[in-house]
Amino acid sequence: MLEKIEALKSVINGLSATNKDEVEALRIKYLSKKGEISLLFNDFRNVPNEQKKEIGQKLNELKNLATDKINTLRESVEAGQSEAMAIDLTRPAAPAPLGKRHPISLVRQEIISILSRLGFTIADGPEIEDDWHVFSSLNFAADHPARDMQDTFFIQRSPDVLLRTHTSSVQTRVMTTAKPPIRIICPGRVYRNEAISARAHCFFHQLEGLYIDKNVSFADLKQTLLYFARELFGPETQIRLRPSYFPFTEPSAEMDISCHLCHGKGCGFCKHTGWVEILGCGMVDPNVLEACGIDSKEYTGYAFGLGIERITNLKYRVKDLRMFSENDVRFLDEFEAAH
Ligand code: DAH
Repeated sequence: MLEKIEALKSVINGLSATNKDEVEALRIKYLSKKGEISLLFNDFRNVPNEQKKEIGQKLNELKNLATDKINTLRESVEAGQSEAMAIDLTRPAAPAPLGKRHPISLVRQEIISILSRLGFTIADGPEIEDDWHVFSSLNFAADHPARDMQDTFFIQRSPDVLLRTHTSSVQTRVMTTAKPPIRIICPGRVYRNEAISARAHCFFHQLEGLYIDKNVSFADLKQTLLYFARELFGPETQIRLRPSYFPFTEPSAEMDISCHLCHGKGCGFCKHTGWVEILGCGMVDPNVLEACGIDSKEYTGYAFGLGIERITNLKYRVKDLRMFSENDVRFLDEFEAAH
């Protein structure tokens, strides 16, 4: 009996298990009613009286040893499993949804890439401006309505500090610092004191183009804009220039493109005219060149300015301007970069 007990002790000391089921199997094998240790307890009846004390003690030690061993095995198996669950390095990561670019960024990028193929480089200027860069240098008369608080956000009066109402201010920023030839585009945000509605917002985005050199003519402007329109709206696109007025260009024009939805036949979108307006342009007024220290007898130039929201509307038919600044992911998710 004593030998049996000693042999079982060393077996139990050497037990191991890798999961709960194995631990349970060991418990049944040694500690259940018909387990090996219980069977020894059954045999205890036959032990002679003089040995009962010693063997009883050893049997109890064996039972405690087995109980402890199985409990520790169970604990370590459970701990191992929950630890593994907490940091399972082999689990695939939850897929992170890929963001999309904002439609205004997409269109701005497309316009920039078309014009940079023609040699235009990007120029930048501040959104908080002074009167001279936004109005005076650009030949705005002292009583021009744009100088009114109703149209322009003023931060401070005399000297005037204001939020630029157009990116044309970057023209003067560049003309006063760089020497011709100048060939720049200026994308940026502009601000106007407008009530927010589906068709107007107090801020939006423009892109300005400016080319100044010797012998720049209206024909150069027209050809540049034709290329631009065809790259943006397709090779069949026609353009037409209507005489217009801007203080900083002379002559000035507004450019229409043939409606890209009905191909000029006339539809609801182009109000049955076959044409949609896309930008303003003209030859830089000599007064503007002179105000910026450029000799208007030696140099001429053209300029154009367009609204990025407007072009985006034409391309994607967004009916409500407010969608652009609400950041509704359902709206933003609809736009995919073309390239
Ligand atoms: N600055 C004009 C506006 O905000 C747009 C514009 C028209 C810019 C004609 C130009 C231009 O450079 O030549 O409405």
